[in-house]
Amino acid sequence: MNIIHISAECYPVAKVGGLADVVGALPKYQNNSEISSQVIMPFYDIKFTQQNTFSSVFESELYLGEKTYKYRILKLKNKSLDFEIFFVDVPNLVFKDYVYSFDDTKRFLAFQIAALDWMLTWKKLPDIIHCHDHHTGLIPFMLQECFKYEVFRKTPNILTIHNAQYQGWFSHDNVNLIPAFDFNNVGLLDWGGTINPLAAAIKCAWKVTTVSPSYMEEMKESANGLESLLLSESDKSIGILNGIDWKVWNPETDLSIVKNYNQKTVASGKKANKKELCDTFNLDIDKPLFAFIGRLVGEKGSDLFPEAFKIALQNPNISILLLGSGNKETEAQLEALKKDFDGQYNAFIGYDEKLSHIIYAGADFLLMPSRVEPCGLNQMYALRYGTIPIVRSIGGLKDTVVDVSEENGFGICHEDVTVSDITTAIERGLELYENKPQIKKIKAQIMKIDHSWNASAKQYINLYKSIN
Ligand code: ADP
Ligand code: GLC
Repeated sequence: MNIIHISAECYPVAKVGGLADVVGALPKYQNNSEISSQVIMPFYDIKFTQQNTFSSVFESELYLGEKTYKYRILKLKNKSLDFEIFFVDVPNLVFKDYVYSFDDTKRFLAFQIAALDWMLTWKKLPDIIHCHDHHTGLIPFMLQECFKYEVFRKTPNILTIHNAQYQGWFSHDNVNLIPAFDFNNVGLLDWGGTINPLAAAIKCAWKVTTVSPSYMEEMKESANGLESLLLSESDKSIGILNGIDWKVWNPETDLSIVKNYNQKTVASGKKANKKELCDTFNLDIDKPLFAFIGRLVGEKGSDLFPEAFKIALQNPNISILLLGSGNKETEAQLEALKKDFDGQYNAFIGYDEKLSHIIYAGADFLLMPSRVEPCGLNQMYALRYGTIPIVRSIGGLKDTVVDVSEENGFGICHEDVTVSDITTAIERGLELYENKPQIKKIKAQIMKIDHSWNASAKQYINLYKSIN
């Protein structure tokens, strides 16, 4: 079975968040003697593409409304990622050094059209076209409706929703950018009076998945306007929990951390990594270290951190370290806090993949007070590195973290997202930290939890088989 994943991001090429981690790992775990899983993504002008070499496998032109654009399909030449990866390069619609920008409509439409036009030339069509998020959301519509893609009518396609907050809306004035189709069916593109690629994909895809069972249920009540659509399409929809790349995220072999460790050596291993972090960020190794890694956006609850941290840090027995970027006001507030709590709090405002590994390894607790969390990978990375997750029980966090007060529980869960939920959860963390035998037991216990892709990759394959 030949599967092609179409995505805007893929680790290690281009990563903004968890979408990249998923698309960079799932194909690896799907590839076996029966299945060949590939990825196609846009060719961005970024560090990865500047540092690697590519060969051109196809060249042609595509039409966006009245305009013609030359494009090439490139293949990564000098490196193996455990799966084949292709790139759409449209030089006159340059995907510059950013992944997302203001003119995404044209860029992502060109990407989607070029990918399909190229596939039209394949000797054997793919068995499954697997689309990820709204950037590829017009594909299920185009496969079903556009005249030039008629040959694909029997090719099953799947949409995976990683985040329903973002839908890729654009105005009907731009409908002419989409290749010709029967205009009587234009309603399939529409949701609430605008063209909505995510909604179009939910309507047209053969199957719709999302990245955790709980988020699938939650979306029927809250999905940025798509609730009723998700409810009406629920028969073809399923939540499949993400996994994590067991090879990349492995404290025993991780080259980014100062000391490797496993379940048996977790105490000394984490101590060495914590020391590295505390030395770098001027924090006290003897105090419990609460960390946050992520995008500073409303969904993650990070706007509450400045106030919550101010309160929590009144207790001199805790330290907090944050790695993130996003909302400028939150960034500034989190920066400003440094001078008031020097030696007890620090923040790195920016994106740093290596540092994220060191934090997962060195922190005692990881904070995730998310308002929305379709799956969340950070809590699974934390577990793998023996770091206790403190999460708001929602979406994938609800599906992966059990509160210590429950049988075999190992994390700290809170119901809502308020300043006091966050500060109370930190206090609970401090209490737990003081119970040394319990902390020791939990650290070893959580490192054993298997969130590798093995099980979830199988679920996707069963889904593919059910429609192939
Ligand atoms: P989302 O995709 O909503 O941002 P996920 O939990 O699924 O959330 O995945 C986030 C991914 O991005 C994780 O791999 C996390 O380590 C990484 N990440 C987020 N912010 C940063 C940052 N500032 N520096 C390094 N890695 C980050
Ligand atoms: C999205 C979600 C996140 C999820 C990730 C990968 O970015 O916000 O919760 O883990 O996609 O599926």
